[in-house]
Amino acid sequence: MSNNQKPTTNNIIGIIGSGAMGAGIAQVAATAGHSVIVYDNNDSALSKAKANLDSTFKKLIEKQKLTDEKAKSIIANIQFANDLNQFRNCGLIIEAIIENIDVKQKLFSDLEAIVSAHCILATNTSSLSIASIASACKKAERVIGIHFFNPAPLMPLVEIIPGILTDNAVTENSKKIIDSWGKVTVFTKDTPGFIVNRVARSFYGESIRIYEEGMADFATIDWALKTYGGFKMGPFELMDFIGNDINFKVTESVWTQFFFEPRFKPSLTQKRLYEAKLFGRKSGRGYYNYAEGVAMPQPKQDEELGKYIFNRVIVMLINEAIDSLYLQLATKEDLDLAMTKGVNYPKGLLKWADEIGLKNVYTSLDVLYELYNEDRYRPSILLKMMVRDEKKFYS
Ligand SMILES: NC(=O)c1ccc[n+]([C@@H]2O[C@H](COP(=O)([O-])OP(=O)(O)OC[C@H]3O[C@@H](n4cnc5c(N)ncnc54)[C@H](O)[C@@H]3O)[C@@H](O)[C@H]2O)c1
Repeated sequence: MSNNQKPTTNNIIGIIGSGAMGAGIAQVAATAGHSVIVYDNNDSALSKAKANLDSTFKKLIEKQKLTDEKAKSIIANIQFANDLNQFRNCGLIIEAIIENIDVKQKLFSDLEAIVSAHCILATNTSSLSIASIASACKKAERVIGIHFFNPAPLMPLVEIIPGILTDNAVTENSKKIIDSWGKVTVFTKDTPGFIVNRVARSFYGESIRIYEEGMADFATIDWALKTYGGFKMGPFELMDFIGNDINFKVTESVWTQFFFEPRFKPSLTQKRLYEAKLFGRKSGRGYYNYAEGVAMPQPKQDEELGKYIFNRVIVMLINEAIDSLYLQLATKEDLDLAMTKGVNYPKGLLKWADEIGLKNVYTSLDVLYELYNEDRYRPSILLKMMVRDEKKFYS
């Protein structure tokens, strides 16, 4: 711990940006008993967030998840501000504004001139590096990534991402605070997509590839992964749910930031959907057509094909998780927690690898690699070594 970075137990939490994520994080922090100040540079966004929070708490009372009294006390904990100077006494500020490096850097630099020396400045960025945001600050050691998932009140996972200059005390305090909010925290390195948005790429990418090769349609691929993998939603249903605009942009960003690593290569199929504004459920059409009266396509329930599809996608997911472990992105426990708590996978991928058998995973990947001669299918060196040494991830 550096001399000037004391552990903080300061109760006041600042949230900047009152959109989907900011409002959700404010709800979580206020429910945990903190005084929360929410700021947005757009007055109507701030009013909308206030109205949405009021209606969320009303619903929670109706469903008897909260008493009237409790809801009132939580709402009273949230203050809406239109001036950053009101953040002067915050112990932790979480930024959830537009995903733009210049705008975020300016905000962090402005904040540093207002807050105390001990205030932790956190970003909820999904795709920017913590190092680049922190570089705008004089005290880069106070900057950290605290990455919630959408919707923040419901999704248990939070990725904690220290940047290259982040003080250990800041990392520990951030974890302590977020743990106290009842969240499941995992530590990860400051690399593109962190854990979840990196490891999950193959769920979408390999499924689209299978479709592009003409092996199966969307409904059949979704059916295969739900039936043989136990995933709650198939990849095409999930991409339509997340939004093809967001999902495509995340894929493109991870691929670009990994210097065009072939495992993360985006697809033209999704790019065309994005260009045509076929974003999924929110626009009424994506891989599926959600217009009223339009029947959903039925899968071809062919067991052999279904098992082939599931196996091809799961070995790609597992390979990514193993390579992430090899590159010390996170511990094996955190890698598995991240996928079960961040994207509701039925099992952690490393645990799943043990169950399938590392040799089977390796052989499936090697067959694909030999067949396609494409780097995207190369097995992780860690997988190769573990097969050689007949090891498992968990005993
Ligand atoms: N939506 C998700 O699924 C998700 C999940 C995890 C992380 N994130 C990240 O969280 C952040 C916010 O995402 P979101 O989906 O809530 O966005 P959003 O568009 O719903 O909300 C962003 C808000 O920030 C405000 N804003 C923009 N510039 C500002 C500034 N300079 N100062 C103050 N307020 C400003 C906007 O008025 C808007 O209300 C982004 O960095 C995003 O990458 C999003």
